[in-house]
Amino acid sequence: STTSPKLELKTLKVATDPTFVPFEMKNANGDLEGFDIDLMNAIAQVVGLQVQWESLPFDGMISTLQAKRVDAAINGITITAERLKTIDFSRPYFKAGLAIAVRENNQNIKDLNSLKGKKIGVQIGSTGADFAKTIPNAKISTYNSGPDFFQDLLNGNVDAVVGDAFATLYAIKNGNLKGIKVVTNLLTEEYYGIATPKDSPYLATINQGIGILLSNGTYQQIYQKWFNI
Ligand code: ARG
Repeated sequence: STTSPKLELKTLKVATDPTFVPFEMKNANGDLEGFDIDLMNAIAQVVGLQVQWESLPFDGMISTLQAKRVDAAINGITITAERLKTIDFSRPYFKAGLAIAVRENNQNIKDLNSLKGKKIGVQIGSTGADFAKTIPNAKISTYNSGPDFFQDLLNGNVDAVVGDAFATLYAIKNGNLKGIKVVTNLLTEEYYGIATPKDSPYLATINQGIGILLSNGTYQQIYQKWFNI
């Protein structure tokens, strides 16, 4: 008698910090969901891998990849020259950028120039944190996650936050972030990539998967699902 061969899918350990709406978050049941989650699961499906998700703080993501404790990380991570020194990135999968957010009643912070000397909140280890360092005389407070700095902005402990525009706009539009507005156009042009350790055996496969999803319409479906708001 013959037995049908069993298809063993290789497991890809993927890290994310599920505090970055709508890219990665936890729903009421505690399950991971979001644009990045759908994208990564779809990539795995088309290339025949199985994702094992790990929740890790954003700030430790790069060092975790360097230590090869996970195979990849998807977390709205901007591809930067600095990060490329120690880890690798997939082809870009999302165009993003930083924006300034302030309390709704703030009238004096209107642009980058008016941030000089102000109290600014940023997420630790983010491109927003790097950007804020370039603002003259700014007093910078760092936070572990976006939700924390928005809370401190509402409390009046900082005058503004500098963070990823899409995530901020999404939170405002969906009502879980009341009393905050975005005041400028994008301060930067950034691209998110899926991060891997250097010399990852999976990077080419991940890129192949992104290519398939872009050409077969799946990427656009996932985009619509999360950004048609
Ligand atoms: N795109 C920015 C960066 O790469 C911020 C990402 C924040 N992501 C997160 N999951 N909190 O530095």
